[in-house]
Amino acid sequence: MTRTLPLATVALAAALSFATGSACAQAAGKLKVGFMLPYSGTFAALGNSIENGFRLYVNEQGGKLGGREIEFFKVDDESEPSKATDNVNKLIKRDQVDVIVGTVHSGVAMAMAKAAKDTNTLLIVPNAGADAVTGVMCAPNIVRSSFSNWQPAFAMGKVAAEKGAKKAITVTWNYAAGNESVKGFAEAFEKGGGKVVKDLNVPFPNVEFQALLTEIAAQKPDAVYAFFAGGGAVKFVKDYAAAGLNKTIPLYGPGFLTDGTLEAQGAAAQGMLTTLHYADNLDTPRNNAFRKGYALTYKANADVYAVQGYDAAQILAAGLNAVKGDLAKRDILTTAMRKVTVDSPRGKFTISPAGNPVQDVYLREAKGNNNEYRAVAVKALADPARGCKL
Ligand code: BEZ
Repeated sequence: MTRTLPLATVALAAALSFATGSACAQAAGKLKVGFMLPYSGTFAALGNSIENGFRLYVNEQGGKLGGREIEFFKVDDESEPSKATDNVNKLIKRDQVDVIVGTVHSGVAMAMAKAAKDTNTLLIVPNAGADAVTGVMCAPNIVRSSFSNWQPAFAMGKVAAEKGAKKAITVTWNYAAGNESVKGFAEAFEKGGGKVVKDLNVPFPNVEFQALLTEIAAQKPDAVYAFFAGGGAVKFVKDYAAAGLNKTIPLYGPGFLTDGTLEAQGAAAQGMLTTLHYADNLDTPRNNAFRKGYALTYKANADVYAVQGYDAAQILAAGLNAVKGDLAKRDILTTAMRKVTVDSPRGKFTISPAGNPVQDVYLREAKGNNNEYRAVAVKALADPARGCKL
């Protein structure tokens, strides 16, 4: 006997089937990933390394994350905070990406974090250390695969004090990352019995260092702590050596001072001690395989920025795998991105409730073209996440 279904039931079934069908189509479609990185200026090499690292991980997964193919979008942020809001809106509003990966410069990253919070867009920060991003601006949709400016700086302050330095001068670009870095250094250095006697700076991305070097020579501190990166780090380390200061006053810094820059710095950087959450020669199967894959793909050596890009993709994959690529399950996805233990080339690390890596910070020494591991400076260092309320 055939039974006629009431019209309302038929309509409901049709609606359900349509809804399920469209959810599946959405999960099966391409995931839109927007890179907002510096592809020009003093941090251009850093931006390219991050993108390379991210793409390497995606390629290792057969071109898919969470079962979804990826469509990439790109914006050059020029490390220019005044253009940051317009630039990030190209990805959010024009391209309507599902997730943003960026950036390098702390000032640009803070504008991105604000836009991501306002629009609830997923944001993975693959470098910029701005303390506020996982401090006062922390949010469930924002996670960092790199570090806070405080982390490597605090570790170097501890090392410098342990080495017996009493009087230090700091030198940096005058912007969020530089200022937070010297603050983190001073916190640990002074706790260890040292004193920062002078903070010197130049505007970002200025590389006219002569006046600062003359001041350092006149003051004769026991140590100098410098925050520079990319092209600026190359110039500062070379100028410091050319002035002969490296013979009498050790130059310390977070690892950005010598990461991805050693070839260009040459003899000027040899023997320099820095602290960072990565060292080139970490002799683990994970790091060796990563470096080999990176070198084969890009005909270049991996650096910390490539690692951070690679791990940004790993964190995103953890979220997407938890929801089988279905971005509508937002809470499950963002929780999984926080709960993951990342099997990184740097060593395994976890993510703090505020969204920042909890990781070992290494003491490294520049030898040839490598930043070689010397010791663990601070084990499982967690950023204090000052001001984060979730
Ligand atoms: C920053 O602006 O946060 C930054 C830039 C380059 C290296 C490290 C940090």
